[in-house]
Amino acid sequence: TNGIITIDPGFKNTGSCESKITFLDGEKGILRHRGYAIEELTKKASFLEVAYLIIFGELPTKEQYVKWEKDIKHHSLLNEEMKNIIDGFPKKAHPMGMLSSLTSALTAFNPATVDITKEEQIYGAITKLMGKFPVIAAWAHSKNLGTPLNYADNSLDYIANIMQMMFRIPTEKYVMNPIAVRALDELLILHEDHEQNCSTSTVRIVGSSEAGLFASVSSGVSALWGRLHGGANQAVLEMLENIQKDGGDVEKYINKAKDKEDPFRLMGFGHRVYKNFDPRARIIKKAADELFADLGTNDPVLEIAKHLEEVALNDEYFAERKLYPNVDFYSGIIYRALGFPREMMTVMFAIGRLPGWIAQWKEMRLNGEPIGRPRQLYTGYALRKFKSFEER
Ligand code: SDX
Repeated sequence: TNGIITIDPGFKNTGSCESKITFLDGEKGILRHRGYAIEELTKKASFLEVAYLIIFGELPTKEQYVKWEKDIKHHSLLNEEMKNIIDGFPKKAHPMGMLSSLTSALTAFNPATVDITKEEQIYGAITKLMGKFPVIAAWAHSKNLGTPLNYADNSLDYIANIMQMMFRIPTEKYVMNPIAVRALDELLILHEDHEQNCSTSTVRIVGSSEAGLFASVSSGVSALWGRLHGGANQAVLEMLENIQKDGGDVEKYINKAKDKEDPFRLMGFGHRVYKNFDPRARIIKKAADELFADLGTNDPVLEIAKHLEEVALNDEYFAERKLYPNVDFYSGIIYRALGFPREMMTVMFAIGRLPGWIAQWKEMRLNGEPIGRPRQLYTGYALRKFKSFEER
C-alpha cells in the first residue's frame, strides 16, 4: 500500500459490489439464491424456475413460468449464417472456444447493446440468450463429433431439449432418458450462480463499460475456461483417469499436490470462499450414487474419487488449509455418465452458470455501477532519457 491504494492480489479481501442475488457462508457451507437454500431448490424446482428466480428475484407464478419458457423457446433458432462461423473451426477446436466465439457472434444478428431503461429490451436480450446459448453449445459438441448440427425441439422442456440437441443423430430415433434429464436438471441448478466468482466478476466488469449482454457473457465463458475455475471439472476427470491408469494410487497424487516443487494441484479441491464442504459437492456426490443406482451402472472412477476424497480429508496438509471437495470434484463423473466427453464438461458448467451471469450483469447495469477501473502501485523505472540505437 502507499497509504492511499492497497493492492489485494486476486481480490481475496476486496468486495466489488452489493448484490441481492446469492448468499454464501464459507465457514458454514451455506449457499442461497434470493434467500432460498440450494438444498431446497435442487429438490423442489426446475433449472428454468431457478433461473427466473435468480434473474428476476422471485419464484415465478405458473403463468409467469409458462410465459418465460415460451419466450425462451421462441428464440431457440439460430440464424443459419451462424453455421458459416462454426464451419470455420477445425473439428477438434475446444468447444469452450467455439462457445465464447459464437456467443459474441450473436451481436452480428441481434442488437449489440440494450437500452437498460427499456425493460422489454433487457427481457428480449435475456430470453434470446437463454434460448440460443444451449444451441450454440450443442453445435460445438456436434462439430467435435462430426455429426449434423441439431435444432432445438420446442416440444421438449429446457433440459430435455439440451439432451436431444447434444446427442440426437438423424439415423436413429432419440430415446429420452427421464433419469438422465432429471440428473442434468439438478446438476445445472447447482451451477446457476455463485456470487462474485472469477467469471461473474468478468461479466460484471465487461458489462460495466456498457458492452452488451452477449459480449459480456462471451467474456465470462472465456474466464470460466481456466482450469482453476470451471475448467477444473475437465481437469478432475483427467486426474481421476490418470490415477485409474496408475492402478488407483491416490497417495501418489496426494503427495504430488502437497509438493510445492510440483505445479500439480488436486483438481476439484479447495475454494476461495468455502473453508468447509462446498454444499454443492455434497449434493452432487449423493446425486452420483443415485444416478448410477437408477441407471444400473457404475463408474470405477467414482470409487477412485471417493477414495481420493477420504485420504485427502485425513491429511493435515489439506486440513490445515481447509481444502475440501468443490463443485467440480464430482460433477464430471455425472456428466460422463450422461454421455458427455471431458471437453464438454466446462461447456455444461457454462450452460448452468448462464442465468447467474445474466442476473449479475442486469443487477450491475440497473444499479448504475460505474465502469470498473482499478488503480495500481507503480514499481517500474523513474523517468529516463530516450536512447538512440547507437547508444543502446
Ligand atoms: C470453481 O469462486 C467460485 O465460487 C468458483 C466456483 C463457482 O461456482 O464459480 O465455485 C467454481 O471454480 C471451483 C474451484 C475449481 N478449481 C479447482 O478445483 C482447482 C484447484 N483448486 C485450487 O487451484 C484453489 O483451491 C482455488 C483456485 C479453488 C482457490 O484458490 P485460492 O483461494 O487462491 O487459494 P490459494 O491458491 O491461495 O491456496 C491456499 C493454499 C496454498 O498453499 P500454501 O501456499 O498456503 O502452502 O492452499 C494450497 C495452495 O498451494 N492449495 C492447494 C489446492 N488449493 C489450494 N494445494 C493443492 N491442491 C489444491 N487443489
